[in-house]
Amino acid sequence: MTNRILVLGGDGYLGWPLVIRLARRIPQAKIVIIDSEFRRKMVRYSGFAPLYPVEALPGRVKALSDIYGIRNVDFILGDINEKDFLPGILKRYRPHTIFHLAHQCSTPFSMLDLEHAIFTVQNNVEGGLKLLYAMREFAPNAHLIQMGSFGEYARGGIEIAEGYFVPDYLGVAADTPMPYPRRADDIYHVSKINSSNFLMMASRHWGLRITEIMQSTIFGLHTDETIGKPALYTRFDYDHVFGTVLNRFITQSISGFPLTVYGNGKQRTGLMSLSSSVSSLASLVGKSPKIGEHKVINHSTESGYTVGGLARFIQQEFVDANVNIEVDYSHDPRAEINHPDDQSTVNTEYLDLMPKRKFCDEVRDFWSHVNQAGRLIKQEYFAPSSSKKFEI
Ligand SMILES: NC(=O)c1ccc[n+]([C@@H]2O[C@H](COP(=O)([O-])OP(=O)(O)OC[C@H]3O[C@@H](n4cnc5c(N)ncnc54)[C@H](O)[C@@H]3O)[C@@H](O)[C@H]2O)c1
Repeated sequence: MTNRILVLGGDGYLGWPLVIRLARRIPQAKIVIIDSEFRRKMVRYSGFAPLYPVEALPGRVKALSDIYGIRNVDFILGDINEKDFLPGILKRYRPHTIFHLAHQCSTPFSMLDLEHAIFTVQNNVEGGLKLLYAMREFAPNAHLIQMGSFGEYARGGIEIAEGYFVPDYLGVAADTPMPYPRRADDIYHVSKINSSNFLMMASRHWGLRITEIMQSTIFGLHTDETIGKPALYTRFDYDHVFGTVLNRFITQSISGFPLTVYGNGKQRTGLMSLSSSVSSLASLVGKSPKIGEHKVINHSTESGYTVGGLARFIQQEFVDANVNIEVDYSHDPRAEINHPDDQSTVNTEYLDLMPKRKFCDEVRDFWSHVNQAGRLIKQEYFAPSSSKKFEI
């Protein structure tokens, strides 16, 4: 078997530190980044920029070589949706593991209008389908590790099973595990649900080996490899379109901007640090499921917070930091009003995969890393505005 690993979306927030970890952990493997630079372009077109400037891919790969002597990383600029692109890549590299992170993953972007909705669906659903067809033909034994989202699961006040469960209806238990219900209120998460459906089909009918990561919201700036090495920093977006909740709250609190809680703040969010997510994902190489198995992992280390509760936690945690942290409930760009109290808890058999430090320690470290760049934070990125259009 060849020793090649593809990382689709390897230029992104999660993908780049994952590439670094894989390259160092498995020096005998060739790590190939495939990315269209879609995320870079969209953030730029929409008038935002990440907290720290991010080098273009050739510069990033050179920095890996200069700083760590890493020479087993290659990159190819390309769109996985382009006709014949993925079959060519799989024929050329014959990988044993494929990480698929190449999605359009901004909810506000996906909800802007029909054009952005269709783009998101085509990029995420068709792109994934093209990958599955290419794997079926050219890499049927490869292990696909694909990023799903925790936000796909329907919340109904019961424990969230790990992908599949055995339901009981009118007193009769099902005779086979069935997919745990999915439900979403935005186009991005519906596109993730549809992608999950194709994964289930491709494992059952085509015998592909698939691990799907139901990823909770990621926060943080660093992994062990990037601290103190600006040329290796991952992209860190904190604006209201591309920034995720805790990344926004931390930058808002440092710059003295009120924490923008959308809707009534009762929506529950799973959380996981960037460092923990990268470690867990990298450890999956070599742990291929059986032929035809669709293994699902609920990837979350912190599931006790609602969005409003998280804002209160930040207020209390940094009360001694000489900044006045207020919480603002007046924005509701995703029509998230009137969320019921969500008591859903999370089940996972794989907690041992996910290294976890005390949440308050992780958040404090994160705060102090971002604080060093406090003067770079642009407050005008925070307030949601509905008028913004993106060129796609
Ligand atoms: N960040 C989170 O909190 C979070 C939470 C749950 C799930 N996820 C999932 O994790 C994955 C990675 O997320 P991220 O935060 O790193 O996002 P990101 O946008 O930073 O990374 C995605 C990368 O994929 C690339 N890409 C997108 N479409 C492409 C295409 N058609 N062809 C080639 N490259 C393409 C982008 O340019 C980008 O570099 C996504 O699948 C996302 O849905 C992320």
